[in-house]
Formats: sequence, C-alpha cells, structure tokens
Amino acid sequence: MPPLSSVVLYWSAGGNTAQMAQAAVQGLQEAGAEVTLLSMTDLRAEEIDLAGYHLVGLACPSYHFGAPAPVRRYVEQALRKHEVRARAPVLTHRWGVAMVTYAGPHTGIDEATPAGDYLVQGLRHIGRQVRGVWYTVGAFHGDPDQENNRLGWLGDIRGRPNEHDLAVITANARGLAHVLQHELAEPEA
Ligand SMILES: Cc1cc2nc3c(=O)[nH]c(=O)nc-3n(C[C@H](O)[C@H](O)[C@H](O)COP(=O)(O)O)c2cc1C
Repeated sequence: MPPLSSVVLYWSAGGNTAQMAQAAVQGLQEAGAEVTLLSMTDLRAEEIDLAGYHLVGLACPSYHFGAPAPVRRYVEQALRKHEVRARAPVLTHRWGVAMVTYAGPHTGIDEATPAGDYLVQGLRHIGRQVRGVWYTVGAFHGDPDQENNRLGWLGDIRGRPNEHDLAVITANARGLAHVLQHELAEPEA
C-alpha cells in the first residue's frame, strides 16, 4: 500500500496560518504521510492536480468573519478545474481537512466558523469527505494598542498561536493520518 499522499494549501498574510499549516505538516509526516506544503498564491498551487492526493488540507485566517479574497479565488479556480458535478459525488479514498486561524475579538469562535464552513464546502464540492475542521487562535498583527489582542472576547491572546496551540494541530494531523492510512489499507466496502 503506498503511503498517504497529502497536500496542505494555505494563505497567510501575517504568518499565523502558515505556522498552523506547518504544524499540520509535521503531524502528517510523523505519521508517515507524504506531504506537499504550498501557499495558495504560489503558481504551483494552481498547477497541481488536487485529485491525485488522498488528503487535501486547506488553511486560512478568518477575515471579516469569512474567507479572505485570495482564498476564495483559489477555491474557485480549484472548483473550475474539478468540474463540479451534480450532488458532488464523494470520491473513494479522497479526504479533506479545513484549518482556520482567528482572533475572535468580537464574538469569539463564531466569527471564524463561517470561514471554516466555506473551506469545508470547497472540499466537499470536489468530492472529498471532510474529516476535520480545526481552529487555532491567532493574534492580530500590527494592532498598535493591542486592544483586540488583550481585551477581546477570548481575553489576552498575545503570542498566539503558541507552542501548545501548534502542538494540538500536530497531534490532530498525526492522528488523522494514522486513521486514514488504516482506511487506505482496508479493502473497499
Ligand atoms: C483584515 C483582517 C480582518 C480580520 N477579521 C477577523 C474576523 O472577522 N474574525 C476574527 O476572529 N479574526 C479576524 N482577524 C484576525 C485574523 O484572523 C488572525 O489574526 C489570523 O490568525 C491572521 O492570520 P495570518 O497571520 O495567517 O494572516 C482579521 C485580521 C485582519 C488582518
């Protein structure tokens, strides 16, 4: 049985989401998966054939409680390439995972879940069974008085994602990859 092949595509303006994606890559690799990590703005990200990977990870920050424009552009071109079919049939041994960083200053995680939902829809439209939606707190960059980072809905989030936040994502990814390797090895139902 070949190893689990995976690709993690992220968009990150300030680095938080890049760190989250990197933490996921570490966990996937620890479980023996092959991993490609690419920014959605990298030309290679548009050229790769997503259908060839067992696992596709999409990672983005929440912006104005949604997915940022470059992320929507990437997902839209991926959908065009995939030729989404009626009822978006689920492909065999093709999985997805969505990842979002957010600061949650006004309403907490509720202002990140629409971005997560968006990524999930992108994955499902290209026939993937979604096996996780992971959220990590990420402080605002360049917030001069740090009000949103100190006094937001989630309290003091300065320095996040921290080591613990990233370790959780690594553990999630490691666990997911182990489970999917088992499913790959099982005879198809
Ligand atoms: C323009 C902009 C809009 C944002 N809007 C939200 C938001 O609606 N909800 C939220 O929880 N965080 C919001 N954030 C915070 C980011 O989601 C958070 O800091 C994220 O970790 C940044 O990721 P990055 O460092 O990968 O760019 C916003 C940040 C920016 C720059």
